[in-house]
Amino acid sequence: MVQATPVLLVLFLALGAPSLAAKKCILSGRWVNDLGSNMTIEAVNENGDFAGSYHTAVTATTNEIKVSPLQGSMQKSRNQKGQPTFGFTVNWSFSDSITVFTGQCFVDNSGKEVLRTMWLLRSRVENIGSDWKATRVGTNIFTRLQLQE
Ligand SMILES: *[C@@H]1O[C@H](CO)[C@@H](O)[C@H](O)[C@H]1NC(C)=O
Ligand SMILES: *[C@@H]1O[C@H](CO)[C@@H](O)[C@H](O)[C@H]1NC(C)=O
Repeated sequence: MVQATPVLLVLFLALGAPSLAAKKCILSGRWVNDLGSNMTIEAVNENGDFAGSYHTAVTATTNEIKVSPLQGSMQKSRNQKGQPTFGFTVNWSFSDSITVFTGQCFVDNSGKEVLRTMWLLRSRVENIGSDWKATRVGTNIFTRLQLQE
């Protein structure tokens, strides 16, 4: 029994640690962020293009929230080590606004996939004099949406 701990540690270092380091972050799937907004990213094609849909939990307008389409690109260069950068645009279907996100798909220290993103939200303003106040900036953290059985 006394020997068990070092044996397990050796097994972890031999098997566990390398597989953790090699785990890739896959962008496709369903994600939820820190505000409770959900998004679905469809399959990423060979050029890195993808489409999807975004269901926001928050809005800067008084309009009723509707699921909105998104279109993006994932960087497919060879040296990303399974943690790719990406960007996408959400074309809000219930307002005149547009949001662009950029981010990176990480595998965190516990082996969980996480999307760290920043966004710019452009609202429509009536005239150029209001241009200065038309853009908001923020950050969001997405984790993979786990569905209950
Ligand atoms: C996100 O998905 C969860 C689980 O399906 C659901 O309970 C929640 O209402 C959704 N939120 C939005 C804003 O779509
Ligand atoms: C953007 O949204 C508008 C309004 O909802 C819609 O007509 C248009 O097809 C959308 N474009 C894309 C590329 O999804």
